Amino acid sequence: MISSHPPAPFPPQEGGEPPGTPAILSDATRDAIIALKAKYPKVQSAILDALRLAQEEIGYVPAEASAEVAALLGVSPHHVHSLATFYTMFFTQPVGTAIVEVCDNLSCALWGSRRILARLEQELGITVGETTPDGSVTLLRTIECLAACGGAPALRVNTTYHEQMTEEKVTELVKELRKTT
Ligand code: FES
Repeated sequence: MISSHPPAPFPPQEGGEPPGTPAILSDATRDAIIALKAKYPKVQSAILDALRLAQEEIGYVPAEASAEVAALLGVSPHHVHSLATFYTMFFTQPVGTAIVEVCDNLSCALWGSRRILARLEQELGITVGETTPDGSVTLLRTIECLAACGGAPALRVNTTYHEQMTEEKVTELVKELRKTT
């Protein structure tokens, strides 16, 4: 959820943004990020945890949030941005409430993952990389292996695995997602 508090300047930190840059994180998240500095022997080790906190609050990590994290930790904003864009668990664009990833590796491909993906696109009315207009579902990407090869074809919705998928199961899943998100 996007924070509703009005942007306020946050104090400059070494290696961070210039003074007066508007803050987009809440005071609670900013305090939690600052507290991380005492938790790790090296402040660089706190960056992923700080990005996680930012994403938990906003739903994704826009460039402004990366810059704010850098300022609060006193590290290079370029380094923070590079980590936010490198790790697939961080999103730099808004995503839906449900994030769907479809395995497209060998076992799943042999068991029909292409048909599963096509049915998902048809039911959701979007293609891979897109989010439904109501913001409920992002069909994020195909993925190389979900380590659920015994349940091929497999897909993941957020942290929940769905295995031995059929086109009929996809239709039911999309109905569920539309109800619950
Ligand atoms: S190949 Fe699909 S889960 Fe491993």
